[in-house]
Amino acid sequence: MTTAQQTSIEKEPVRVKIDNLSKSFGEQVILKDIDLDIAPGEIFVLMGPSGSGKSVLLKHIAGLEMPTSGTVTLNSAETSDPDTFAKTKIALVFQAGALFNSMTVFDNLALYPREHRLYSPQKIREKVMSTLRILSLENAANKHPSELSGGMKKRVAIARALVMEPDLILYDEPTSELDPTMSATISEIIACLKKEVNVTSIVVSHDRDLSLTIADRVGIIMNGEIQAIGTPTEIKNNKDPLITEFLNPKIDLDNPRYKTLE
Ligand SMILES: Nc1ncnc2c1ncn2[C@@H]1O[C@H](COP(=O)(O)OP(=O)(O)O)[C@@H](O)[C@H]1O
Ligand SMILES: [Mg+2]
Repeated sequence: MTTAQQTSIEKEPVRVKIDNLSKSFGEQVILKDIDLDIAPGEIFVLMGPSGSGKSVLLKHIAGLEMPTSGTVTLNSAETSDPDTFAKTKIALVFQAGALFNSMTVFDNLALYPREHRLYSPQKIREKVMSTLRILSLENAANKHPSELSGGMKKRVAIARALVMEPDLILYDEPTSELDPTMSATISEIIACLKKEVNVTSIVVSHDRDLSLTIADRVGIIMNGEIQAIGTPTEIKNNKDPLITEFLNPKIDLDNPRYKTLE
């Protein structure tokens, strides 16, 4: 290997492969025969109606749920093998954000590297501050989460995930409860991180604009089954009535009729 190659490859993003995965909770079948192959470095967006099984599928990838049948592999290691998670660093950005309110933003970010003694205190400080800068949060370092807007809290949650230097980031509804402008900002951040950090990203969302803008590929899940999968263009051109109705709900908020209500 040449020196140039050695310095350019810092880490390998993860390939996520799901084969024949089914999941039931008691009698209730939640996921049915899911097959997915997500490429290293890809932004894969999983869309679908509420209750269709998106979060449950994401939890399988994180190893927080185990399949009733079938497998999830990260690179070629199965999630049923606990060693898999020692080899793959996964960051979760969940709906609620779950920041510690008693700590400053800086301390929320520093918690993981401090607890795992990853770096010297000086190096942790540099990493936390440079990550906050990527997300335009450097002025929030000494604030507490309760002092931040909803959009800032989401960015802090993303920053905290990034400080872990993950190989795989899983986002569950990163733009829920945000106004359209802040949703667009979060979308830009997810797309930008793909360039700045060599990482595979899986985003669960029912935000059509986010999904069709940032995704390399989109998967649509309905009633626990993958109904369609493809590039945003392929998905937009999909003629399946279930898909077109999901992507273009009957109440069209852009319709001039609705503008008069404002
Ligand atoms: N731990 C659990 N035990 C039983 N049922 C669950 C559990 N987690 C999720 N479910 C059910 O699985 C279905 C899919 O949930 P979820 O994946 O959260 O949907 P969404 O697509 O909205 O994220 C729902 O009917 C939910 O009630
Ligand atoms: Mg969910």
